[in-house]
Amino acid sequence: MEYSPGLRGVIAGETKISTVGMEGTSLRYRGYDAIKLTETHTYEDVASLIISDDLNGSDFTTFFKQYYSELNGDNDVNNLFKQIKSRLHPMDVIRTIVSYIGESDKKSDLDLTTQISAAVAYVIASYNENDTSELDDKYTVASSMLSNNASSDQLQALDDILILYAEHGFNASTFATRVTGSTRSDLTSSIVSGIGTLKGELHGGANERAVELINSFKDVDDAKSGVMKMLEEKKKIMGFGHGVYKIQDPRSPVVKSWVEKLISDDDAKLRYEIAQKIDEIMDKEKKLFPNVDFYGGLLLSELDFNVNLFTPIFVAGRSVGWAAHYFEQRADDTLIRPAAKYIGVEERD
Ligand SMILES: CC(C)(COP(=O)(O)OP(=O)(O)OC[C@H]1O[C@@H](n2cnc3c(N)ncnc32)[C@H](O)[C@@H]1OP(=O)(O)O)[C@@H](O)C(=O)NCCC(=O)NCCS
Repeated sequence: MEYSPGLRGVIAGETKISTVGMEGTSLRYRGYDAIKLTETHTYEDVASLIISDDLNGSDFTTFFKQYYSELNGDNDVNNLFKQIKSRLHPMDVIRTIVSYIGESDKKSDLDLTTQISAAVAYVIASYNENDTSELDDKYTVASSMLSNNASSDQLQALDDILILYAEHGFNASTFATRVTGSTRSDLTSSIVSGIGTLKGELHGGANERAVELINSFKDVDDAKSGVMKMLEEKKKIMGFGHGVYKIQDPRSPVVKSWVEKLISDDDAKLRYEIAQKIDEIMDKEKKLFPNVDFYGGLLLSELDFNVNLFTPIFVAGRSVGWAAHYFEQRADDTLIRPAAKYIGVEERD
């Protein structure tokens, strides 16, 4: 069998959950166009679709509200939380809290998954200096992480990016989740594998690095010379390129248009102009397009999230995709165990 570095192009399993880039640039969740779903449905509906093939998110919403309020009164979780919060990155806090909560095997797939979603949202909300306790009936998950006085545009923007983060085929973190699940391990352990894998800057961490890059330039000219220098030095510009899409990431225009719509002051306008300049240079010099993380990072920043919460928000969206893949892998019940090409020394005595 031919070796493919990074398993590029290798079909490593079967799935009914999504197609990524199948018609060139499309993304479909169980047959539905994900971009259209941002216009017609909420994250809760999409989460229910991905887990249970049902586009009605009312059960997901009910479970989420229940678990979210239970966490407020859970002294064990809150004590652990206090101990680790000041010294760990929020991604590590999420990994630890999800792991600590664990799971009971008496629950349905949707119920189990929602408990994890609520825990992730609860951790993210705790970093907000404002009160986040009021849950919106429509955009429940988005509202749990935003201040109570968030505008309807802000709720909708976060809801959209959560939908776009929800599922993406056999990406690295989902594959890690499936590998763990394939050993018949539990859902929590498998999701923890996913969280650890998403943390790296070539995957979920790209949105943090992209915004740090944008913020490092004082104006558009500075961005132009800075990015050209990085390209000359063969450095990667985070938030550009994609392992599967080769023409465009269909999620990027949705998040970009929200950034444009939410511009609230001169500083936000300048950062958007700097981002557009980087986008223009990457197209001209490298024929590379922005992926969801480039303008996605900027959007989360316009929604007032600290940079270190961007990847956790990715987790908040993606946990349903990971869980769906876990259940699919468990049903398939095949241990994932690829072979390696040996390139070490010959036999030695
Ligand atoms: C996502 C990514 C890993 C996809 O990788 P890939 O399609 O396998 O492409 P490769 O990493 O093999 O790169 C192919 C070429 O394009 C260049 N390239 C790819 N992405 C680049 C980027 N973001 N900035 C600059 N150059 C890039 C590589 O340097 C390489 O150039 P070379 O042929 O001269 O060596 C890659 O584009 C990347 O590292 N992007 C930045 C991280 C990121 O945004 N990740 C989030 C993904 S949603």
